[in-house]
Amino acid sequence: MTSRNDPCWCGSNKKWKKCHYPEKSRLNTRKEYKERHGILLKTEEEIIGIRNACQFAKSVLQELVSAAKKGVTTNTLDALCRRLHKEKGAIPAALNYGSPPYPCAACFSLNEVICHGIADDRPLENGDIMNIDIASIVDGYYGDLSTMVMIGEVSEEKKKVVACAKTSLDESIKILKPGMDLREIGQVIEREAAKEGFSVVHQFVGHGVGLHFHEAPQVCHHANNHKTAPLVEGMTFTIEPMINAGRPDAVIDPKDQWTARTIDGKPSAQFEHTVLITKTGYEILTV
Ligand code: MF3
Ligand code: CO
Repeated sequence: MTSRNDPCWCGSNKKWKKCHYPEKSRLNTRKEYKERHGILLKTEEEIIGIRNACQFAKSVLQELVSAAKKGVTTNTLDALCRRLHKEKGAIPAALNYGSPPYPCAACFSLNEVICHGIADDRPLENGDIMNIDIASIVDGYYGDLSTMVMIGEVSEEKKKVVACAKTSLDESIKILKPGMDLREIGQVIEREAAKEGFSVVHQFVGHGVGLHFHEAPQVCHHANNHKTAPLVEGMTFTIEPMINAGRPDAVIDPKDQWTARTIDGKPSAQFEHTVLITKTGYEILTV
């Protein structure tokens, strides 16, 4: 429970009892929070739209996971992702995103690729691990999630890094509630990685999401980061820890300017959810 003497969630540095205690109107909260932190708190109506986009993205991811078998290429999976979006009148948020424009509808990050891997015609092989990352726009709202698939017999090291990435995300979600600080997410993820002797990628972060693809705040996955902001009901953001079996450094492919690989060639794993902060805790919008 937040104590009346705790700092106010709005970031004023005043005690809660001297600031927003017991509560101000929802409208004031939204406006003030935006001004102070640049973070958009969502209305009930927006949350319904974002939840719907998240559920659609999740359904696409499930289809791609089912189709990801030995011998299948990531180009085939990318084509499936495009078709599923088209059928629904939805837009894959990754396609043509950024500069240079991202060339695929989803990200396919295999083995030593940390994130933003581009689809190609290499068939999936026994022993591969792969992150599939889907972000969808439905009726103007955004949902974003990713998961790992393992093809056939996978090495112990790969299994461990996949399990660690999953646990680190799950554990960091469990602590979410209004009044806590965004920075605590990274503490939990780093603790889980350290247990296995693995490292946490710093160069890519989670992010606010919902009305845009990438909104404030940045959500750091490593400990002792400086991205502080009090969590407030109505925030929607992703947590998407990337855990490396070896060193934390990412190197971006100079040719395609997207594919991020581990500097030492060791495997990397990532899971992602979009979450909503509620009055009493959280809701995972992408389950
Ligand atoms: N979940 C990833 C992110 O938020 C999706 C990246 S899509 C890309 O950054 F287009 F940026 F590659
Ligand atoms: Co994301």
